[in-house]
Amino acid sequence: MPKKYIVKKQGKYFPSREMKEIAWVKDEKIYSDAGKNPIKFWEELAKKGINWEGNWKKTYEEKLPYFYWFKGGKLNFCANCLDRWIKKKGSKTALIWVPEPTSEKTIKITYKQLHDRVCRFANVLKKQGVKKGDIVAIYLPMIPEALISMLACTRIGAIHSVVFSAFSADALKTRIEDGKAKILVTSDGYYRKGKKEDLVGKANEGAEGTSVKKIIVVPRFGKKISGNKLLDFNEEIEKAEEKCDCELMNSEDTLFILYTSGTTGKPKGIVHDIGGYAVQAYWTCKWNFNLREGDVMWCTADVGWITGHTYAFYGPLLNGSTSLIYEGAPNFPNAGRWWEIIEKNKVSVFYTAPTAIRMFMKFEDKYLKKYSLDSLKILGTVGEPIDEDAWNWYLEKIGNGRCPIIDTWWQTETGGTLINVFPGIGPFVPTIAGKSFPGTKHIIVNNDGKEVKEGKAGSLVQVSPFAPGMLHGVYKNPKKYIETYWKRFGKYYDTSDGAYTKNGLIRVTGRTDDIMKVAGHRLSTAELENAIASNGKVRECAVVSIPDKIKGQVPVVFVVLKKGKGDASLEKELVSHVDKKIGPIARPSKVYFVEDLPKTRSGKIMRRILKNLLANKEPKGLMTLVNPEIVDKIKKIIDEKIK
Ligand code: WTA
Repeated sequence: MPKKYIVKKQGKYFPSREMKEIAWVKDEKIYSDAGKNPIKFWEELAKKGINWEGNWKKTYEEKLPYFYWFKGGKLNFCANCLDRWIKKKGSKTALIWVPEPTSEKTIKITYKQLHDRVCRFANVLKKQGVKKGDIVAIYLPMIPEALISMLACTRIGAIHSVVFSAFSADALKTRIEDGKAKILVTSDGYYRKGKKEDLVGKANEGAEGTSVKKIIVVPRFGKKISGNKLLDFNEEIEKAEEKCDCELMNSEDTLFILYTSGTTGKPKGIVHDIGGYAVQAYWTCKWNFNLREGDVMWCTADVGWITGHTYAFYGPLLNGSTSLIYEGAPNFPNAGRWWEIIEKNKVSVFYTAPTAIRMFMKFEDKYLKKYSLDSLKILGTVGEPIDEDAWNWYLEKIGNGRCPIIDTWWQTETGGTLINVFPGIGPFVPTIAGKSFPGTKHIIVNNDGKEVKEGKAGSLVQVSPFAPGMLHGVYKNPKKYIETYWKRFGKYYDTSDGAYTKNGLIRVTGRTDDIMKVAGHRLSTAELENAIASNGKVRECAVVSIPDKIKGQVPVVFVVLKKGKGDASLEKELVSHVDKKIGPIARPSKVYFVEDLPKTRSGKIMRRILKNLLANKEPKGLMTLVNPEIVDKIKKIIDEKIK
């Protein structure tokens, strides 16, 4: 019989005795102890969890809006992920890779093999002139070479900038142009829903006219790579030397940049430092998921997002654990694929997003019943608020009523998780993320920055000392960094999320700015509006999000054309224009052609009114409009389309 890790008491779930027995953290005292001296707490964790080559001078230095952890401490990130495990467990599996085609075999890569490949690829990068501090752009799907390339960068002190493989050539270009990468690593393509998806074509297009001198291409489809600027990943790696020393880095040097949506049209390059990020990734992964020797962790997030960085790759490796990644679509060739992967590979920690859970809820149970999910120990969720139905389904159908659900709140900016409960402490309550990670503190404030009472909604902010994994600025844009995170509340880090507390636990309700979460992907209204407005036929447009049963939210666009009326073919054209500018993840679910947009006297578009119209609510604030008559007209257009 598989172990039962949770028990129900007075309608709530708590860790069972079996869970307490294996839990790293089971005493609530950890919160108050850490709270007494958070800096000391993190200092201890840093010493215990990470190998340092030289001591830091000061554990924490804060000169807002900047702060540094372990300043001057010397380390190498790759050495912490690989070299330190080689002697003791070189033959342990570091990565399990499941390709999408069922005709291809699952590949297991040991720590030793991974180390070997990483060293060789680091030498390839060096041969191409990549030096400490240079940025390398990585545009790869979920294949082992993504991890190899990222680790190779960290080994030689280069900074990686991973771009989600489903982003378009244009989106890639913007990110390359910002970071000025000379090298781009990509693949000829990947499999998705049984089809070959091109990548190198998009990579070539995206790199055109930018700083990129060479594109290193992984031959995923097995064909030889040739072409202007192109190098074959495998050929280069075979030619390269096996030995590559680790570059000694400072804790506060940059580890990577990851672009994410802000409230303006241009994505922001979020900068993460080496030491602080490593410490937070190590401990959050170990404690949240109670990683133990022999565990297999599967975080389903793509490496193009922060969750893929921290919990598909770095967290498990820093812990000397085994991580599983899967290349393809969750329901390919059928809705049983994920569960089959869990059974076959004895996955014990499973970390996914509410949107995936909601998608699986609509499939019949027969796909689930075929497989045993007895290996599971811990279930995690991230990316958006999880509703009660999805939570209960996850608990019952996937966890068989045995496994705790760890609902983790965090952001690209925070590097690692920050609000959740621990498996050994609980309670596990639907829709409630939980408590601030020990040694960190979040409070909920009103617009004046005053803490609100229990149960009252407000803005979620982080209090000093800020967590070690927090961002270290926005790449080349200090103004944006200050404006976005520090302008509103000064001494508090502004998460832009709304939240309230219930019985001392935090419930995050979602973004309070113009950012939406579409199937867990972070997109901004402004980014989409910019993309659509760049179509020559569009005079102006407004994007709002509406709730969606599976994706959480989806974008809807209101378009004012320069001339003529819109029709189905123009709607199609605009949708494919979004594909080209950002990628299919940003596709609007509907396009409404309207003659004008509701605007205030100062010309501000009132998206709130559009949102209300879509939700069939009485729009408020019409008095402030310069063109109130447009509201009825838009309503008619919406009603007609629904019919
Ligand atoms: C949302 C993803 C509720 C939140 C790691 C945050 C969540 C944004 C949760 C960051 C959760 C993430 N409950 N909301 N457990 N986790 N969010 O940068 O709005 O892609 O601000 O990072 O996702 O999204 P990002």
